[in-house]
Amino acid sequence: MTTPWGELALARFPEDPRERLRAWDAADEYLLRHLAERPVPLSGTVVVVGDRWGALVTALAQHRPAQITDSYLAQEATRANLRRNGVGPDTVRLLTTQDPPPDRVDVLLVRVPKSLALLEDQLLRLAPAVREDTVVVGTGMVKEIHTSTLELFERILGPTRTSLAEKKARLVFCTPGPARERPASPWPYRYTLPDGIGPVSGRPVVNHAGVFCADRLDIGTRFFLQHLPPAGGGPRRVVDLACGNGVVGTAAALADPEAEVLFVDESFQAVASAEATWRANGGPGRAAFRVGDGLAGVPDGSADLVLNNPPFHSHQATTDATAWRMFTGARRALRRGGELWVVGNRHLGYHVKLRRLFGNSETVAGNPKFVVLRAVKR
Ligand SMILES: C[S@@+](CC[C@H](N)C(=O)[O-])C[C@H]1O[C@@H](n2cnc3c(N)ncnc32)[C@H](O)[C@@H]1O
Repeated sequence: MTTPWGELALARFPEDPRERLRAWDAADEYLLRHLAERPVPLSGTVVVVGDRWGALVTALAQHRPAQITDSYLAQEATRANLRRNGVGPDTVRLLTTQDPPPDRVDVLLVRVPKSLALLEDQLLRLAPAVREDTVVVGTGMVKEIHTSTLELFERILGPTRTSLAEKKARLVFCTPGPARERPASPWPYRYTLPDGIGPVSGRPVVNHAGVFCADRLDIGTRFFLQHLPPAGGGPRRVVDLACGNGVVGTAAALADPEAEVLFVDESFQAVASAEATWRANGGPGRAAFRVGDGLAGVPDGSADLVLNNPPFHSHQATTDATAWRMFTGARRALRRGGELWVVGNRHLGYHVKLRRLFGNSETVAGNPKFVVLRAVKR
């Protein structure tokens, strides 16, 4: 990426030589250009929220910024990009959405996230640290910035306007007002699951801002819950892979109190939600919670059953690379005879991938939209 201060070598995480997607975009470039051309005093505590792959904090490393992200992949990409560009590991403070935010913010740079709920949550958490003289600049692609986005800045921080679009990107300028009566955060949001979905019927689910389907049960997840494998045959080590709010793993734990369930997601908010959901349901059996990239780092042969509703949008780029990584990781983490159960949109054709990897794939259930597939590690 060419920045006003020089060239940077940047990559996404994990690096995939077949996927040539850049680790920055016009929104990152526009913000950096703006900061260089209209010198904003970048002094005091500089906080960057939602930096997709670390391009912003790497470019601004000389100002020793703090980065706040919900994504493990973004945080790992940032670590690698800082290293790649010779920036020492202590130069940028890497925080997650679950860490307490800094108590004072002098410059707040916001890469507008895909989820409006996550933006609302982040602005509400940071608002007490924002002063009247804090410089607040947002950035995003035009298609990511809506009237509702600007209304959020306006309602939580103060008067907000946008720049002209450049290369389909736009900046957001917000002038923080005097301390205002802020709405109480609606997050985490708790709702009761419907009936007819097995062990979690009528039970609570807890959602931190930004998690997948945070305000209602997803129809694919519902179908999965109706067709989960029956418990039995001794204690089982189960993985809820890509757990989101943890509803699937909690159902497995309630169905089989002997089971030990590992909840994994790359979103810090998701893993916190899964833990809260499991606890809200009495903490059945034994459980572990892990933020990570699929099953990377989970020992070989350590699982009897992997349950997976894979993502099919990875940070805006529609790709099934993540699903493939998840299935490969599941095959490795399963013991011989262990099973991977997957729910997916019928049109995604996951059975082709499972057959290629496992040599088998059986359709356990199907409706016009979704299929539940089972693959056995032989
Ligand atoms: C379709 S949602 C499924 C959530 C939940 N299991 C359900 O059925 O409601 C997919 C989840 O995958 C997570 N995810 C995306 N990429 C990931 C990765 N590389 N490793 C782990 N989880 C990932 C997302 O954060 C999201 O929570």
